[in-house]
Order: sequence, then structure tokens, then C-alpha cells
Amino acid sequence: MGGALVTFDRKKRIIVESSIGLVTTGSIIKSNTTTSSKSGRQKQTQKNQQGMPRRSCLKLILRMGLVALPLTGWLISPQISLADSNSLEPVTTNIPSECQSGALMAESAVPGAYDQICMNLPLRTIPLRLPNQTEEIQIQQEGAGPGKTGLAVWNSALLLGRVLEAIVATNPNFFRDKQVAELGCGTALVSIMASRLGAKSVWATDGNPAAVALSESNFRRNNISYTATVSERNIDENVVSTLQWGELQVPLEWMGKVDVILGSDLTYNSGSWRVLAETMDTLLSQNGFVLYLSLGHSGFNVRGEVDGFVNVAKQSGLSVKALMDLPFTLPRGVSTLDAFLQDFILPSEQSILSFTGGAQLLVIGRK
Ligand SMILES: C[S@@+](CC[C@H](N)C(=O)[O-])C[C@H]1O[C@@H](n2cnc3c(N)ncnc32)[C@H](O)[C@@H]1O
Repeated sequence: MGGALVTFDRKKRIIVESSIGLVTTGSIIKSNTTTSSKSGRQKQTQKNQQGMPRRSCLKLILRMGLVALPLTGWLISPQISLADSNSLEPVTTNIPSECQSGALMAESAVPGAYDQICMNLPLRTIPLRLPNQTEEIQIQQEGAGPGKTGLAVWNSALLLGRVLEAIVATNPNFFRDKQVAELGCGTALVSIMASRLGAKSVWATDGNPAAVALSESNFRRNNISYTATVSERNIDENVVSTLQWGELQVPLEWMGKVDVILGSDLTYNSGSWRVLAETMDTLLSQNGFVLYLSLGHSGFNVRGEVDGFVNVAKQSGLSVKALMDLPFTLPRGVSTLDAFLQDFILPSEQSILSFTGGAQLLVIGRK
């Protein structure tokens, strides 16, 4: 990195190709200077009649290489992450290394939304602990703030991911033969984890077309095949598509077919509780269940939020599953879902949760 590749275009202009892009000097080298049979020393001193002397050209190239070298080092510094080769814009400096380890981060309220430093990275790496190895999931983000809900990974999705890892660690067949749907998937981190953890098929959905486009990109980025339209034929395949909550929005082919519904941070708006519950009810198969996790936001009471949703969900025929009816076994010595959840919260993250009212994990099924 940092060196410059020098070539000439068809008009014999000098092209310097470096990691900061292509630069054309505009200088035209006469063909007899490039094909001259004179000695190297003569060639070096020969002037380009229409442009600059070759020696000057070489100096320019050398200087550009010297400029490119530190610049390239700056661009790839560990403090800066790049979304992909098309996005060389440094987004912010001093990114904490925790952003690439899946740690929960403190949020701050901004007008109309919440923000936190990791959400502004164009690309995040989230570890996924499979029973025999740890993989890395790459998640592209498009920032946080007003109008961007779902275009970055929320703490709730990170925590739900840890819950799924732990369930599979104790129940290796948890996702086996299961058709999974995620509601309000945002970046699709949780859907991608469910696929990696063994789900037969995953339908990643969101009401925001920008989140669906981002989710598609993240499926591709993590080499997970999918189709973009729902049909009866592809019920066993992964699908990424738009789904607005509301009973009448669910495609006929998927009604009553979903074994596991996943959701994180979807209950912050009480006006959506009824349509969210209706969607769950319409999608769930007879023995299907919902795994839902919400981590509070500053100023909100997560218990009030989740309890309010559960009350509304009862009217759609859904209820919270009792411990003895859970569709998975809890690890030995763990006797409540709260205690189960606490196991995944690092000591350094406790203060973030106490500041935001904690987190709540629900398993919901039919009454
Ligand atoms: C706070 S974000 C959470 C995203 C993701 N689950 C996570 O935890 O990172 C809420 C998501 O729900 C989606 N959403 C909100 N209301 C919706 C609705 N009525 N229908 C479908 N999706 C909705 C938003 O577009 C957004 O992606």
C-alpha cells in the first residue's frame, strides 16, 4: 500500500494510480520520447516538447507517492473503518475498539432519535460464537439519528444475538428444520445469526425499504443466499423483503407457517403494538413462538414498554410462555429468563443497562 502505479493513457497522458484514486497529470509525452532508442541517460534528460520534462514528471510521481503513503496509512488506521472500496470517506475518528467486538455501547438522545458512536461506523464486525468456532459477521450500516431507525445495529440486536448463541450452545438443534422470520430486522444482523446458527430458512423483513436494501446487502456481504420476493415456492429459502406490520400485510403463503419469530427493539412506539401483535399472530405456526428482546433507551422504562405490548398482544391470542413451557432448555442452574439474560451482560455493560432501565427477554406463544 502507498506505492503508486504509473501508466500512460491512449493520449499518452501520465496516469498515477494510487490508493487515493487515479490522477491524470494532463502532460502529454511525445511518442518518440517513450520509444526512443537513445541511452537511458539521454532519455532521462530529454524534454517533452508539449509537456513537462520527464524528470519533472518522475519527481511529480515520486511526490505523489510520498503524499499517498501517509494518507493511505491514515485511511487504513484502526481508528477508521471503511464500508467498502467505494467509500473511502472517514466517518469519525477515535472509534472505540469495542465497536468491532459486539459490545453494548451507551446511547445519547438526539432530537427525534438516539445515537451512539458505533452506529456511525459504515461497517461493523460482530463475533458469532458457534458451538465449535467463532465466526465474524460483517454488518454494513448507514448511520443513526432521525429518519434512520434500523439503518444501524441497536444494542437489543447485539444482546438477542448473544441469547441465540447461548440457546444453541445448550440446545444444538434449536433452529433445526425451523422456518424463522425476523420483524423490523433493520440491518438483518439477527437474521444472519439465525441462518448461521442452523435455521432452515430465514425471512428478514422490515417496513422501511432502505432497511430492506441494507439487509440484502448484508446477506450478500456474509455470503448468505436469498430471494427478494415471497412466494409459496420459496418458503424453504431465505427471503429478504418488505413487511409492514398489520394482519392484512402478511402474504397468504406465509400465514401460520413461521416456527420462530425474532424481534429486537420493536416496542418503543406504543402506537405500533397492536399491528405488531397481529403480525406475529398471523405468521406463527400452531406451535410457533416469538423470541423478543428489548433494551431500554434513556428516559424510557423498558418494563412498562414491554408489559404494555404484552397486554395488547393478549388481545391477539398471544401470551408470555411460562418457564415450564419454554421451547428450549435453560443452562443448568439458571431458573429465570432474567437470570439467563444477565449472564450475557458484561460487567462493563451493566452501567449502560442501569442507565436505560435494563433489558427484557420474552418468549411469546399462543394462549
Ligand atoms: C429500533 S429499530 C430495530 C432494528 C433491529 N431490530 C435492531 O435491533 O437493530 C426498529 C425497526 O423496526 C422497523 N419498524 C418500525 N415500525 C414498523 C412497522 N410498522 N412495520 C415494519 N417495520 C417497522 C423500523 O424500520 C426499524 O428497522
